[in-house]
Amino acid sequence: MSISLHNGISATDAASFQDRLLTWFDRHGRHDLPWQGHADSYPIWISEIMLQQTQVSTVIPYYKRFMARFPDLAMLARADIDEVLAHWAGLGYYSRARNLHRCAGLASERYGGALPDDIDALTELPGIGRSTAGAILAFAHGQRHPILDGNVRRILCRHFAVEGWSGDPKVQARLWAIADALTPDDRVGDYTQAVMDLGATLCRRGKPDCGRCPLADTCQALAQERVAELPFPKPRRENPVRETAMYLCEIEGQGVLVERRPPSGIWGGLWSLPERPVAGDFDAETAAWFHDTLDLQVEAWRGLPVLRHKFTHFTLDIHPYHLRVRRTSDRIMEADGVLWYTRPTQEGIGRGEEVAVPTPVRRLLDLIENDRGLLELWNKVENE
Ligand code: ADE
Repeated sequence: MSISLHNGISATDAASFQDRLLTWFDRHGRHDLPWQGHADSYPIWISEIMLQQTQVSTVIPYYKRFMARFPDLAMLARADIDEVLAHWAGLGYYSRARNLHRCAGLASERYGGALPDDIDALTELPGIGRSTAGAILAFAHGQRHPILDGNVRRILCRHFAVEGWSGDPKVQARLWAIADALTPDDRVGDYTQAVMDLGATLCRRGKPDCGRCPLADTCQALAQERVAELPFPKPRRENPVRETAMYLCEIEGQGVLVERRPPSGIWGGLWSLPERPVAGDFDAETAAWFHDTLDLQVEAWRGLPVLRHKFTHFTLDIHPYHLRVRRTSDRIMEADGVLWYTRPTQEGIGRGEEVAVPTPVRRLLDLIENDRGLLELWNKVENE
């Protein structure tokens, strides 16, 4: 038998890997996801971007709502970014939504309203890396490209006992080479879905189900009893904790003040609460700031429990304050990027459903909404 080695993997071994995986996929893989079975790259692109950091069961309702509102690339390109973000609210990593919108605009300008079907052109678009581009082209057009998302990295690190952290460029280059050697010419879309499904359902990070794995016979981690050890985790530095004070400024009957954040940075473009550095409890200086900056007279305040929110690179401790305020001028009513948030009523009055707010802000708005009947814990502010 002639053995041609491709990146250290023989053609026979690659074929065996593919056959076992595809046979398993035919019986146990996911075949009825709402974005499957399209020859159009648009729904596949939307789903792949949503799935980049979020699991399938969470994505499905978001995907359906998104596609109902933005059924094709032209609709997305024409849409207001606010509405795109509102359809993303709750999924997190909002740069994904901003990139989708930018991509739609670029594809309309440069490629006649469709995503390009060339891997290099696709990878140049914002938010589309090599793996996502490979998956889109494999699913939509049957093009042969390897993928290397988190699931695939885990499978390959275990199956080939690859040591080192997978984000290390050398390790990453090796994993790409292995992924490439294993990707078949035929049924490449099924193969791509199969590796994703294997990683999500059997070769999980915790509690992998090796007893049902079609690749168990050749898995080096299993043979060496190192499944729990592989892949190596990222060398950890503790995430720093940052603090901020957030203010729920409420005018009875009128709502809570929310401001639109700058387009880039954390929660870019979302609607959030006024913030100040944390400095002890609410004091006269803070009250004066509201008065001078926002023309708001604070009449009473209360502190709410600290809310911890984890970002990828840091943890944010939010010190929330609920303020009862009165306007001293109409300036803030007329300002751009400011509105008074109220819950949408039965009749749909109020802006609550229409604006995208970050998850912890949503929790704070819900908290004060649901906490109306509780003990009055208000501290009065003496106004001279
Ligand atoms: N993760 C990324 N893409 C996916 C897909 N198409 N199916 C399941 N999980 C995924």
